[in-house]
Amino acid sequence: MRRTRVLEALHSAQATDAILVKGWVRTRRDAKGLSFLEINDGSCLKNLQVVVDAATPAAAALDTITTGAAVTIEGALVASPGKSQQWEVHAGALRLLGGADPDTYPLQKKRHTDEFLRTIAHLRPRTNKYGALFRIRSETAFAVHQFFRQRGFHHLHAPIITGSDCEGAGEMFRVTTLPFLPPAERPDVADDFFGKEANLTVSGQLEAELFACALGNVYTFGPTFRAENSNTPRHAAEFWMIEPEMAFADLEDDMDLGEDLVKSLVTHVLAECAADLELFARFVDPDLMANLRAVAEESYARMSYSEAIAILQRSGKSFQFPVAYGVDLQTEHERYLTEEYCKKPVMVHDYPREIKSFYMRLNGDGQTVAAMDLLVPRIGELIGGSQREERLEVLERRLDEFGLRPEAYWWYLDIRRFGAVPHAGFGLGFERFLMMVTGVTNIRDVIPFPRTPKHLEF
Ligand code: 4AD
Ligand code: MG
Repeated sequence: MRRTRVLEALHSAQATDAILVKGWVRTRRDAKGLSFLEINDGSCLKNLQVVVDAATPAAAALDTITTGAAVTIEGALVASPGKSQQWEVHAGALRLLGGADPDTYPLQKKRHTDEFLRTIAHLRPRTNKYGALFRIRSETAFAVHQFFRQRGFHHLHAPIITGSDCEGAGEMFRVTTLPFLPPAERPDVADDFFGKEANLTVSGQLEAELFACALGNVYTFGPTFRAENSNTPRHAAEFWMIEPEMAFADLEDDMDLGEDLVKSLVTHVLAECAADLELFARFVDPDLMANLRAVAEESYARMSYSEAIAILQRSGKSFQFPVAYGVDLQTEHERYLTEEYCKKPVMVHDYPREIKSFYMRLNGDGQTVAAMDLLVPRIGELIGGSQREERLEVLERRLDEFGLRPEAYWWYLDIRRFGAVPHAGFGLGFERFLMMVTGVTNIRDVIPFPRTPKHLEF
């Protein structure tokens, strides 16, 4: 007999006298002559109720069945007299696949703190909250590909190991096969695997630019790695980024695409993950649904960096980091702008050149670059992007200003030598998006196995 998933059983159109289900026991309750097992197989949030009659052969296995055990059940799917479900299974046969010792199984209790569950990241997807979260994560990833496919973008698999530093910030993880030795005895990089310094990528942008200047519109969606020692609820050392890049596009097009993408993803999750999302609205953030509908429907505010600075200075707020033209916006500033001033997502554009990356296009004023950040309530920066510097001489000057060697970027400069076009793109932090969509406040709780400074358990 083919296994029926719990999701399918719960949405069955009719009763059936032969059904096979497999899953893990979430709870067991015993009443007079009957045992009730709540079975979950990960296909959806809701459990399937299985009724085991003490007078049937199925009852023989009951001794071994505790919370967390894996079981297989053959029986009949019948209309349930209970109020909370339409269907239940009356077990004809019940078999234990894998037991879970009640004395040591960590998910015995119903409620656990997020902090505790982080220490058992291998088991937390078996809880309602994390099951829902990782189904939403999976569905959102699908929606990303759908969004770009519908708009004619090609998917690029950017490399994970790179020989360049995209952000020029030097916050990279070295990749090497050389033995770990004191500096004096360390072999030359020429003897290393690649014969030169190699790192894990911080961004697929540079490669996306190369491909956009051939395939038109492309996007990457992959893991990125940053060795920044920032122990905040919004930073992970390994996170996933969605990076579109468009040829023949300027900053305005870039902001439009960012707004469209965020709206489209939120709309998709609202429609496709309603049951899972409901859990977060009930237990995590009571305003979640209203906020998400606003993010999906209202148009976003737009303001220049200098307007943003003026607004912050006029706010009368005492920020921990003082505000002045030229400072990088801190999370507290970003959150004031989006949560209190705009009360919706806001695109801040045209930043001072000194605080942004070398590849951003220098504006006519010679002082600012065509950069944009999308700031959203509760999170702060969700997207960072820009129009790229496509003028060879200007870019060469910028590399120099940043102390970067042009020889290392010869291929990047070639794109400006041969058929250069205006182009633009951005990066959207996938985990930050999931935090926004679920109301979860710590990035460690939206990624399956978080990597942060001094934490690498799995
Ligand atoms: O602003 P960032 O650093 O931009 C870039 O990397 C560009 N190369 C992107 C591009 O234009 N193609 O990062 C982009 C986004 C941020 O807005 C944030 O959402 C997320 O990536 N991000 C992080 N998310 C989690 N942990 C970290 N350490 C992150 N650093 C950036
Ligand atoms: Mg940024």
